[in-house]
Amino acid sequence: MEQREKVNVQELKDRAEALMKKLTLEEKISMVHGAQLFQTAGVERLGIPPLKMSDGPMGVRQEFQPSGWQVVGLSDDYVSYLPCNSALAATWNRELAYETGSVLGAEARGRGKDVILGPGVNIKRSPLCGRNFEYFSEDPYLTKELAVPLIHGVQNWDVAACVKHFAVNNQETERLWVDVEVDEKALREIYFPAFYDAVTKGDSYSIMGAYNLLKGEHCCQSQYLLNDILRKEWGYEGMIVSDWGAVHDTTLAANSQLDIEMSVTDNFNEYFMADPLKEKIQSGEIKEEVLDEKVVYILMMMMKLHMLDGERKAGKYNAPEHREKALNTARESIVLLKNDAKRLPLDAKEMKKVLVIGDNAERTHANGGGSAEIKALYEVTPLLGIKMVLGGNSDVRFVQGYCCDEKGENSDTNWQETSLEDGGGKTKHSIADQKMLNKRAKLRKEAVELASEYEHVIFIGGLNHEQDSEGNDRADMKLPYEQDLLIQELLKVNPKMVVVLTGGSPVEMESWIDAADTVVWGWYGGMEGGRALAEVLFGKVNPSGKLPETFYKKHTDCSAHAIGEFPGGKTVRYKEGVFVGYRYNDTFEVEPQFCFGHGLSYTQFTYTNPTVEQKDGVTKVKCEVTNIGAMDGKEIVQVYLAPKNRTKEEPVQQLKGFEKIELKSGETKTVEISVEGDIQEMEIRIGASSRDIRLTVSA
Ligand code: BGC
Repeated sequence: MEQREKVNVQELKDRAEALMKKLTLEEKISMVHGAQLFQTAGVERLGIPPLKMSDGPMGVRQEFQPSGWQVVGLSDDYVSYLPCNSALAATWNRELAYETGSVLGAEARGRGKDVILGPGVNIKRSPLCGRNFEYFSEDPYLTKELAVPLIHGVQNWDVAACVKHFAVNNQETERLWVDVEVDEKALREIYFPAFYDAVTKGDSYSIMGAYNLLKGEHCCQSQYLLNDILRKEWGYEGMIVSDWGAVHDTTLAANSQLDIEMSVTDNFNEYFMADPLKEKIQSGEIKEEVLDEKVVYILMMMMKLHMLDGERKAGKYNAPEHREKALNTARESIVLLKNDAKRLPLDAKEMKKVLVIGDNAERTHANGGGSAEIKALYEVTPLLGIKMVLGGNSDVRFVQGYCCDEKGENSDTNWQETSLEDGGGKTKHSIADQKMLNKRAKLRKEAVELASEYEHVIFIGGLNHEQDSEGNDRADMKLPYEQDLLIQELLKVNPKMVVVLTGGSPVEMESWIDAADTVVWGWYGGMEGGRALAEVLFGKVNPSGKLPETFYKKHTDCSAHAIGEFPGGKTVRYKEGVFVGYRYNDTFEVEPQFCFGHGLSYTQFTYTNPTVEQKDGVTKVKCEVTNIGAMDGKEIVQVYLAPKNRTKEEPVQQLKGFEKIELKSGETKTVEISVEGDIQEMEIRIGASSRDIRLTVSA
């Protein structure tokens, strides 16, 4: 994984300071706030270009009007659509994270952008958070291990990554005003590590603050977060940008380490860090030095990106290899949850006729979800993927099975215009009138009748961006659109049905899971997601994804709900502390539906001969893994540390290392895993998931 050469920060700072000194007050002010919805003003006189930013984590967003949330409607802003970060996390593959970043960086540059507003590294505290699909995991170690190479991949293209949203932005409900109450230990061990690694190891050139409050301060003007933690404690010298409309006070923002204020409204000169800041500087209320410092950080970033010296790399978008990379990630992201009857992989030759049921089989998802929406060059749906793989030799029949009560299709691109109203987000309850219920009953009847006639039935349902979306949280984990009822009825007439669910967050499965012997989980898999899914179903690809988050039986089995509060009121108390995700379920013995780290393969692996080695403060855990099955495959070997004399403040185990390896049928490999942290007094657990520990050793 290539990494752009590190620059000499002091030399950069000197140059930036010298340039800053040439700027007038007005020019400096113009650089620290939005002059359009996604860019600041440049200073032409001195060759300083405007700073161009764009969402988002799954690809570069389409162009908007400079001062209004209407799309321009160009024919040249289609892009490659990458699997979402949850999908990437399910690959547990650092190389793929780097490649994902590399596509994102190349495309951002190709589209003329300077800053790409991602990755989102917030922790999945509750499965109900609407933006979870943009985030990696409930686990800080897994999150940072993937975020860091992703950032390197982006920045190799002379584009700044913008790690977001700092910090504790873990819900959408009342996101603009909710004040998070969380203890220091949880901040340090759960919510900060991914940001810390992103800015230190990842060297993320920029970071975005969060909408919410922490310790009574809005994050984008927080002394604690931006000054004390980020700049002083972590020594961060990158650019700090606000979330869009997250600044609330000129003096607080100016005196915090925030460098650029962005927002969603077109009164650019009235932004807190525009004319109001200029006036306060002119009146002596705010020192000009605080502005100077911000401008220096912005210029330093521009210099790192070669925006000022003409040495900048050219990017590219919609390159064929980008689609290949998106496909590779999608393939490794799919998680085989259950294969009790070894029904998968399906044998295409046996299948003269196949029935595919479910709205997600033919729904596209790219253009939804909020600011992460993408105008994809194309998107292969699961149905299309299945037909592509079967190649005309099977008769594929599709029926919808259920339908969505809301528009479901494309997100309204103007939602951001009103995104500062009503607290910025809500908990969404699904609504269906009698007419809709009747319509669904009819679709259900049709699907069930057909399912009883077909031998081979594949159900493809789950969530879409009506649930997984910025600006709203789910009210519970139930499958929407009466899918539970549909799946139950389908399984009654065809117990061999393969259940495929796609979405960005787990769903309740209790009402039908015992009746289903075959369950596959896909995510928002990007432009090639449908092809990847079909390849897995028909055995062209051996699944190797593992869950980057706990699949609870119901949301009340998650600590944010069981111990803490979610979504809370004016404040939300994270009373669960560090017991987030499996840290809670394992410690308090709450059984999940599918545990963190779980994922099956079409082959089997055995683990033997564990050893531990400590050299120069680095711990290496080794063991031998053998592929004892008939198919080549990949395995993710996970290392959890478990304190031997646990205090009640500690979780029973925590992920501290992993490697993904590829093994041919019959092959044995020694896997070597670097383990983070102190291993004294720890039992070292090596496993295929958090609940499938195969070996234990001690230092
Ligand atoms: C989101 C950010 C996004 C920004 C710009 C905000 O609503 O929270 O993640 O980058 O808009 O679109």
